[in-house]
Parts: sequence; C-alpha cells; structure tokens
Amino acid sequence: MEKEKQVPVVEMRSVTKTFPGVIANECVDLSLYAGEVLALLGENGAGKSTLMNVLCGLYRPDEGEIFIRGKKAEINSPRDSQRLGIGMVHQNFKLVDSMTVLENIILGMKDQGFIPDMKKVRAEVATLSEKYNLSVNPDASIWQLSVGEQQRVEILKLLYRKAEILILDEPTAVLTPQESQELSKVIHLMRAEGKSAIFITHKMEEVMTFSDRVMVLRKGKVAAELSTTSTSPRDLAKLMVGREVLFELEKKPFQPGEAVLSLEKVCALDDRGLPALKDVSFEVRKGEIVGIAGVAGNGQRELAETITGLRKLTSGSVRIQQKDVTNAKPLTIIKAGVAHIPQDRASVGAVGDMSVASNLAMKDYRKKPLSIGIFLLPQQILSMAKKLINAFRIATPSPETHVKFLSGGNIQKTILAREIGACKNLLVAVYPSRGLDIGATESVRKQLIEQRDKGLGVLFISEDIDELIQVADTILVMFEGKIMGSVPAASADPEKIGLMMAGVSQLQNEPTDIRQGVIPS
Ligand SMILES: Nc1ncnc2c1ncn2[C@@H]1O[C@H](COP(=O)(O)OP(=O)(O)O)[C@@H](O)[C@H]1O
Ligand SMILES: [Mg+2]
Repeated sequence: MEKEKQVPVVEMRSVTKTFPGVIANECVDLSLYAGEVLALLGENGAGKSTLMNVLCGLYRPDEGEIFIRGKKAEINSPRDSQRLGIGMVHQNFKLVDSMTVLENIILGMKDQGFIPDMKKVRAEVATLSEKYNLSVNPDASIWQLSVGEQQRVEILKLLYRKAEILILDEPTAVLTPQESQELSKVIHLMRAEGKSAIFITHKMEEVMTFSDRVMVLRKGKVAAELSTTSTSPRDLAKLMVGREVLFELEKKPFQPGEAVLSLEKVCALDDRGLPALKDVSFEVRKGEIVGIAGVAGNGQRELAETITGLRKLTSGSVRIQQKDVTNAKPLTIIKAGVAHIPQDRASVGAVGDMSVASNLAMKDYRKKPLSIGIFLLPQQILSMAKKLINAFRIATPSPETHVKFLSGGNIQKTILAREIGACKNLLVAVYPSRGLDIGATESVRKQLIEQRDKGLGVLFISEDIDELIQVADTILVMFEGKIMGSVPAASADPEKIGLMMAGVSQLQNEPTDIRQGVIPS
C-alpha cells in the first residue's frame, strides 16, 4: 500500500495527557490507515489505554489534535467518537451484567432518538454474528456468559453501531489460545472490508500475526513505529523494555530434595457440583518447579484451590511437608508456608486506598524485619517496597502512591510481588504471567526460578507450553480433571504435550511407568 498518498483514517498529533504525578502520554503522534491493523505495544503503564481513551473521548488531552479522515475532530465524549465511527472494547468490559445481550447492544442508543424495533435488531445481530462467526445467545444475561463470550458481545455491539475504526484494549489477555485464534479471524475479516483496527497487546506472537504495523510506547512516548514484517519479537521486546530481554533463563542444576507437597488420589467438584479433579496424584519436591500444562478449565483452578484450602476435597489427601492438611483451613495452609497467586487476582486483590508499599507489606508486616512487637518500621517497609518495585518493574510515581491510581497490569504486579515475597515452603502460581508485559513476565519467571533455587517447591500452572518448558523441571499435563502424563521439562516435546492437552493419553503414545509418570528416555 502506498501510505504516503493516502489520508490516514486517524491521525493523532502531539497528544499529551497527564495525571497527577504522571505523564501518561507525551507528544504522541499516531496514524492509522484504512484496512490496516496497528498493534500498540508497550509495558504495563506505558500509556496505551490512556491514549486510546483520548481517541474515544473518555479523556480530554492536555495538548494535541486529532484528525479523522483528514478533518480536525473535536472528540469530547464517547458519543462524539461513536458518531465518527470509532468503537472501543475496553480492557475491563463495560457491559451491564443483569441485562441481556440484545439489551446491551442497543444500550444508550435510545437516548439518541433511536427507537429500537427489537425484531429488526435481533435479525441484524444474527446476521452480524453469522458473518463474523461471533456466536452468542442474544437472550442470555451477561452474567451467564464466559469472558470470551462477553467479548464477542462487545465486538458485536461495535459492529452493530457501524464502527469503522475498532480499538481493542488487550483483548486476548483474558482469552484462551483457541479464543485468541478466533479473534484473529474476526479482525482479518474486518480488515478485508476496509475497516481499521488498533490492537493493544503485550504478546509478540500476536503482534506478528495480527498486525500490519507496530507502534511501541515506552513511558508515555513513542519508542518506535515499524512495519511488522521489518521487525522481530526480540527487537520489539528491546524497544518496549528499553534493554535487552533475556529469552533464556539461568537456572541451577536440578537437584530435588524431599517432597513439600504430596497429593494422593485427590477428587473435588467444580462450582456446578461436577467432578473437576479425578484421582489426581503427584508430588512437588524442594527445589523443583512442577509445571501443570493444559487448556484452562480442565481442573487447574480447582487443583490450586484444593491445595490452598479454598475448596473441599471429596476424597483423597493433601500433605505439606508430610503433614496432613486435607481440607484444612486456608489460614492453616498459609501458616504452613504456602503462598498462592490465584487465577482471579481481582478477588484477593490489592487494597486500592492503601499505598503500594503497604500493599506489598500486607502479608509480612507482623514479622521482623518490618516490625518489632506491635511497632511497624516504616523505613524498612519502604526499602523492602522499593526493592520489589524495582524487581517487578511496577510503574508507580512512588511507593506511597495509592494502588487505585495504578494501571491494571501494575496492580497485578503488586499482588504478585507480595505473594512471591511472602512464600516460605510452597508457591502455587496460577497463570502468574497472564496479562503481564514482557518485562514483568520475565521477572515473574525469574522469581519462580529464584524460589526454586532457594529450595522451595513451586507448582506452576500455565497454558504456555514454551514457558513451561523454559521454567519448569517437570511437566504434568491436565485434561478433564486428570493427569494425562508427566515429562521432564529438559527433554519435553511441545507437540507431545499439545496432544496430551487435547486428551491423548501418554499411555497411547508410548510405554510409561505411570507410578513415576515419567517417560523413560
Ligand atoms: N485515571 C487515572 N488517574 C491517575 N493516573 C492514571 C489514570 N489512568 C492511568 N494513569 C496512569 O497513567 C499511566 C499510563 O497508564 P495506562 O494508560 O493505563 O497504561 P497501559 O494501558 O499502557 O498499561 C500509568 O502510570 C497509570 O498509573
Ligand atoms: Mg492498559
């Protein structure tokens, strides 16, 4: 395409947006052409969401101008942007839970003089659903839908409103790899029709497969603008983080000690009362990272919850350092030295009205060196907080900033730093790098390995096979609540793991000593 001669559909010129103590965007130029997918890449807190919120009228920029199809635009509200054909799927969806899919799709349009003929709306939504392969029950209430389905509703809503410029803010952070694939098809279809999209992500592979061009933001400024074919994941990572990113991690040789965690024939039910864990048995030893591979929803969440006391076993046993903790209370298990990075980080989350430093100290504050008796030691808390803020690259104006002012990814990093920091015997990490940028992902992986090198046991649940091979010592594959097989990470074959993830038992592949669960090499 001859970009030079075309008028961009969107042109943002020298946009600056500040919040108290933070320059979220500094003199940012952005252009987007018809039929183009632009990937907006950057670490958590780089200013991506802010820039897009300016474009869709949620924030007023302090300085700068926006041109839409060559004409200067005054975008003072989401309604203005909608009129210009701009639609955004936000990082945290903005659907009304108690309403149905159809009601959500037309929500707010009535105020603009639109009197909905529900029969027509239903037919149009059905046509769009089919065309873009976005299947969802139009009469379901939002609360009944999975996250992936809710996202489809958000996209349908924009298509129904005839958006020509789509902004997707980290749409794949909440999706399974399969759902991400589906989304990539939708985007390609829209692009083929001449629509344009800005796609925010941290994931390099997605940038490479989804986009035509990439813009990298770093600390609110444009760090680079490139055509996708002229760059590589490694270069992009470097541009994002501002330094070389290690794709290889250093690890001490694998020398496991005695078992920290032993599961024997553990069975448990899911929230609907159906069997979620079926006779799960395995061990995690000191100095070992056991990786659990599998498509999300195959019992991983329930596994982590039974170990940490948040879910009852229906049969079987759990031991921590040989002590029976079957169905023990969460607090008993925490006292046994178990830390948990849960899947749903919002629920255990951070306290928004407290500072980053206080949040980081939350689990440790009763112990030395952060307190003596009943006295907290603010200097110690502050220096510990500074260490963690650096290690996890938490983007915060200061340790004293209230957590509610941080971006979503940085709140997540705060929780991670706290849990990893407080771990004594066993760390149960459920998708710890989900939604994190590459710099933070790297430090999470390093932290897991560091805990292992210190002699702790780590149970590491992930959907990313490459990540598991890189980080874990032993990989177990879960499918429909069962352990399908076990392989040493050092000799793991991604394809074989993928097959087991899809339900092909290791036994059907080759002879296995199932008690040890390790393929003899
Ligand atoms: N409403 C807000 N109030 C104060 N600070 C904010 C607000 N929104 C974002 N920020 C700050 O602006 C910076 C950029 O945030 P954001 O645009 O959310 O980053 P990204 O989407 O790239 O992760 C961060 O330092 C964040 O803490
Ligand atoms: Mg964001």
